[in-house]
Amino acid sequence: MVERFVLQWHLGEQCNLKCLHCYQENHKYINLPFNDLQNIYNQFKELLAKLKMKGHINITGGEPLCNPHLFKILDLIKKDADLISFSILTNGTMVTPEIAKRIKSYNPYYVQVSLEGGKKINNYIRGKNTYQQIALGIKCLRDEDIFTSISFTANRLNYKEFPKVVKYARKYDVNNVWSDRYIPLGDSCDEELMMNYDETREYLKIMDEERSKLLKKKIIRPTVSMYRALQFQMTNDFAYGCTAGETLLTVMENGDLVPCRRMPIVVGNLLQDNMYDLYKNNPLLKELRMKKIPDECTECEHSEMCHGGLKCLTYALYKNLNHKDVGCNL
Ligand SMILES: C[S@@+](CC[C@H](N)C(=O)[O-])C[C@H]1O[C@@H](n2cnc3c(N)ncnc32)[C@H](O)[C@@H]1O
Ligand code: SF4
Ligand code: SF4
Repeated sequence: MVERFVLQWHLGEQCNLKCLHCYQENHKYINLPFNDLQNIYNQFKELLAKLKMKGHINITGGEPLCNPHLFKILDLIKKDADLISFSILTNGTMVTPEIAKRIKSYNPYYVQVSLEGGKKINNYIRGKNTYQQIALGIKCLRDEDIFTSISFTANRLNYKEFPKVVKYARKYDVNNVWSDRYIPLGDSCDEELMMNYDETREYLKIMDEERSKLLKKKIIRPTVSMYRALQFQMTNDFAYGCTAGETLLTVMENGDLVPCRRMPIVVGNLLQDNMYDLYKNNPLLKELRMKKIPDECTECEHSEMCHGGLKCLTYALYKNLNHKDVGCNL
């Protein structure tokens, strides 16, 4: 995809699950009225016009399929299909054949479904019976030929189960599997759940082994993508650089604007403030765009791209950004 400005939009906090690792804080029934959502959408269009860019919206939550306004938002996006593409990030458990057909009619770029490992650990993290419900949801999406990606959030309990996720993806004809690390945040905030340095290195190695096996066997579905922080250290591919504040903004369920859901520093609220003005003038967003390199990384040959790795994890641990990623081996 040509570079687009990405808006991660948490439509509401309402969810039918209560996952062990979830960063949400209250799982409340906060749903802004449709008029407010429309206003936020128009602010995103204004920002795109001023930056002369196309946009992409990741619609998420909570669980977006619990949100009463989801399809009305998709109606808005459909009218602007030349300007804005979209994806839906869902837990997959509410996807039926009818829902999948309806989503398909809006031509999503992809649908992301979360899975946390084999049956036992997935159900421990996501709740009883979810493993099977997720498979049913994925089947409906694939029956509609929707590009489907599995998201695996790696923590100390599940990171060794990545191969099981790849196996599952293959069984259910999923297009892609990607993964990033658990961030100790919100309700689930538990540094014990976070992988330490050795575990992080082992996790990256496991991911790379799975990716290489698929490549060697020339398997088309699934692919394993490794374009998140530090993953280039295994693949020798290009280094990932976090785009939060630059070409990524996130809107929370109450209209708060943050650089990224995993870096929950509120820079304003779109019910009172204007998205483009905040983007242009907010000191934190300006600082993020300056791509400051942490002191510990200045000698590193990858620093121009990597900028210190997973900034949201650094922020969660130290409450500032001037540190090297705890999982980095350099
Ligand atoms: C908040 S969920 C919203 C969409 C949907 N309800 C789902 O579960 O996929 C989006 C993604 O964030 C991940 N996530 C939740 N809490 C997290 C945390 N503390 N650290 C990193 N990722 C987290 C989830 O595993 C999921 O893949
Ligand atoms: S990770 Fe997704 S499904 Fe799980 S509680 Fe959070 S919002 Fe709900
Ligand atoms: S030293 Fe810093 S910039 Fe270099 S790879 Fe590690 S985290 Fe990234």
